[in-house]
Amino acid sequence: MDNAATSFPKPERVYAAIDSFNRYLGANPGRGTNQQTLQAGSILLNARETLARFFNIKECTRIAFTANITEALNMGLKGWLNPGDHVITSSMEHNAVARPLMALTRQGVEWTAVSAASDGTLDPKLIKEAIRDNTRMICMLHASNLTGGILPVAEVGEIARDNNVVFMVDSSQTAGILNVDVVKQNIDILAFTGHKGLFGPQGTGGLYIKPGLEIRPLKEGGTGSMSEYLEQPGFMPDCLESGTPNTPGIAGLLAGVEYIQETGREKIEEHEQRLINMLMAGMQEIRGVLLYGPPDSTQRTAVLLFNIKGMDCGDVSLRLDYEYGIITRSGLHCAPLGHRTLGTLEMGACRLSPGYFNTEADIKRVLEAVYNIASST
Ligand code: ALA
Repeated sequence: MDNAATSFPKPERVYAAIDSFNRYLGANPGRGTNQQTLQAGSILLNARETLARFFNIKECTRIAFTANITEALNMGLKGWLNPGDHVITSSMEHNAVARPLMALTRQGVEWTAVSAASDGTLDPKLIKEAIRDNTRMICMLHASNLTGGILPVAEVGEIARDNNVVFMVDSSQTAGILNVDVVKQNIDILAFTGHKGLFGPQGTGGLYIKPGLEIRPLKEGGTGSMSEYLEQPGFMPDCLESGTPNTPGIAGLLAGVEYIQETGREKIEEHEQRLINMLMAGMQEIRGVLLYGPPDSTQRTAVLLFNIKGMDCGDVSLRLDYEYGIITRSGLHCAPLGHRTLGTLEMGACRLSPGYFNTEADIKRVLEAVYNIASST
């Protein structure tokens, strides 16, 4: 029940792809022209092309692989914003956005975090009203890692386009589950993680940058290209991809996305929607349970944040783990801004996040366990 932190288990083919790369190929892509190196390079190309199709991206070379989505978001923010620029976010952002922005404000970047309502929902009109002459970026998560609440990405994408402001989306909690379409949603910069809904391993992620947009790299180094020059290559993806990539991880990520394509993303979304409906309906019936986030389960991904009156959220997680074998995450979930919005900054909360491989029987087990714990106070 902790798939918002990382999806588990992965499809069998993901384990096989990683093992096969490490065991039988083990070459460094783009570093030489021997057959194995070329084969490793074709894994990266295949992954880039597959991800591009998945997100409706026309040029796959506009995707750079990163170590995780935090790195991707740092690249987008620090590579685009300059002192004197203004950036708008929601008040539900994760520290992967809030901390780089805090650091940027010390260098003269101005930041407005538009307040979401106390259930985490956001009125896109408020984003529009926050735009100033020097606004250069709107950066927003697609769904909250606390409540699963879905933010109005398509509406805000239109506002950004109409106001000529770059729109960056943090898709950590949605890629692989909800539709992420850079054209339909007017996304100029898309940050994604490999290890959640896309079923890849940890240590994978990436950043898409719309053609025509150039951002500064976070780091420079070897790219296997233009090696005669000491300057970093200016073209994508090499300008943002220095050093040996996580090729075994990307092989696993490719297998994860292929699994989603064969299964059908909609089928995954429907299954998770069924689980969250059942979980919310059951939790609402348990005396002493406080739920946070949008009341309508169709407005969220499969994430449910809760507290039990009179109990510490960490104790609830411990009891779920040690007494019932149910894994959850408690505390602030690296998202203090979001917890402040929900009114849970002081006490934190416990989070349940079923995934595609959970069943209705698992949800029944969770409901029984929470009922027992809540009844014991
Ligand atoms: N951001 C991840 C979470 O919400 C790790 O747990």
